[in-house]
Amino acid sequence: MKTLHVGIKDHPYDLFIDEGLITRLGDVIKHEGQAVIVTDTGVPIEYIKAAKESLNTPHVFTFNQGESNKTIETVAALIAKLQAALITRSDFIVAVGGGIVGDVAGFVASIYLRGIDFYNVPTTLLSQIDSSVGGKVGVNSPVSKNAIGAFKQPRGVFIDPTVLNTLEERQFNSGVAELIKHALIKDADLFHDLETKPFSKNIIDFILRSVSIKRDIVVKDVYDQNERQLLNFGHTIAHGLEKISKHDLLHGEAVAIGMSYMSKDLPEYERVVALLKKFSLPTETPFSYEQLKSVMSLDKKTKKDSITLVLLESLGKAVLSTGSLNDLKPYLK
Ligand SMILES: NC(=O)c1ccc[n+]([C@@H]2O[C@H](COP(=O)([O-])OP(=O)(O)OC[C@H]3O[C@@H](n4cnc5c(N)ncnc54)[C@H](O)[C@@H]3O)[C@@H](O)[C@H]2O)c1
Ligand SMILES: [Zn+2]
Repeated sequence: MKTLHVGIKDHPYDLFIDEGLITRLGDVIKHEGQAVIVTDTGVPIEYIKAAKESLNTPHVFTFNQGESNKTIETVAALIAKLQAALITRSDFIVAVGGGIVGDVAGFVASIYLRGIDFYNVPTTLLSQIDSSVGGKVGVNSPVSKNAIGAFKQPRGVFIDPTVLNTLEERQFNSGVAELIKHALIKDADLFHDLETKPFSKNIIDFILRSVSIKRDIVVKDVYDQNERQLLNFGHTIAHGLEKISKHDLLHGEAVAIGMSYMSKDLPEYERVVALLKKFSLPTETPFSYEQLKSVMSLDKKTKKDSITLVLLESLGKAVLSTGSLNDLKPYLK
C-alpha cells in the first residue's frame, strides 16, 4: 500500500492507495462509532456491498446520481436519514463514489450536528486524482455551480484503482483531462510520461503523482487565496462551455478544450493537443469568444471586470495574472 501525507494545518490526514482497498476499509479506518456510507445510484452495488461488509455497518444512504441532484434538497434528505438512524457526533460518514458523492457527503458531514468526521473513498478517476483532496465540499444552487459549500477536510482518503474498471470510458477520460492539467501546470516530466508510458500499467503512479500536485498546492493555500487558483487552468473557458452547451460536455471534456486554447502560445502546443486526443478528449469548440463571453462573465470566479488568468509560462509551469475577459480573446481565435 502506498501512502501520501496531506499536511493541511490543523487538519492533516493521509491518503492510501492500493488494489482491493475497498474490501479492507474496516482495517484501515480506525474510528470508534458507527460508519454511515453515503453513495449515489451510479456506483456499482458490488463496491457498496464490499464497503458495507468491511465497515460492518447497516447504514447505507443513497441519493440519485447526476449533477442535477447535487442540491441542498439532497443534503436535507440525507440529514433526515442521519437523524432517523440516531447518528451522533461520535459516528462518521464514509463517502463512496465520485466527485459528486464526495462533495455532497462532505458537506453533510460539515454541517450535521455542527460537523462530524468523514472519510472519502473516491471511485472515479477525477475524484481519485483531484476532488477527494483539498476539502472543498458543497452543492449547487439553482443559479450557480458549487455556490453553497464549506471547507471540510476528510480524516482519510482511500483509493482503490481497481474500481475504475467499471467506469465508463468517457468518464475515465474526463478524469484524465484533470490529470493532464496537473502535468501542464506543475510537472513537465509527468506530461512526458503520460505521452510515452502505457496508462493502465502505470495507473497507481499516475494517480499518486497527480494527487501529490493537488496536495502540494492546497497545503500552501487551503482557502483558495492565490496558489490554488492555478488549478483553474483552462477552467474559465470550460465553465463557459459547460453552460453554453447545457452540460452536453462532461467537465473534463470542457477543461480539455479550455486547456488546448490556453496552451496556444506554447512551443509544445501540438504535443498538448496530441496528448488530449490520445484520450479521446475534444480540443476545439464551434463557439466564438463573443458567444462565450456573456456566459463566462456570469461565472462566480469573475470579480466585476477583473479576472485571475492562469497562463502557462512554459510546459509544466503555470502563473497567475490579473486581467479581464478580453485577454482571453486572442486564445479563442
Ligand atoms: N471538491 C473539489 O475540489 C472538486 C474538484 C473537482 C470536481 N468536483 C466536483 O466533482 C463532480 C464531478 O465528479 P465526477 O467526475 O467523479 O462525477 P460523478 O461523481 O458524477 O461520477 C460520474 C458517474 O460515475 C458513477 N460512478 C462512480 N464511481 C463509479 C465506478 N467505479 N464505476 C462505474 N460508475 C461509477 C457515478 O455514480 C456517476 O454516475 C462535480 O460535481 C464537480 O463539481 C469537486
Ligand atoms: Zn476541474
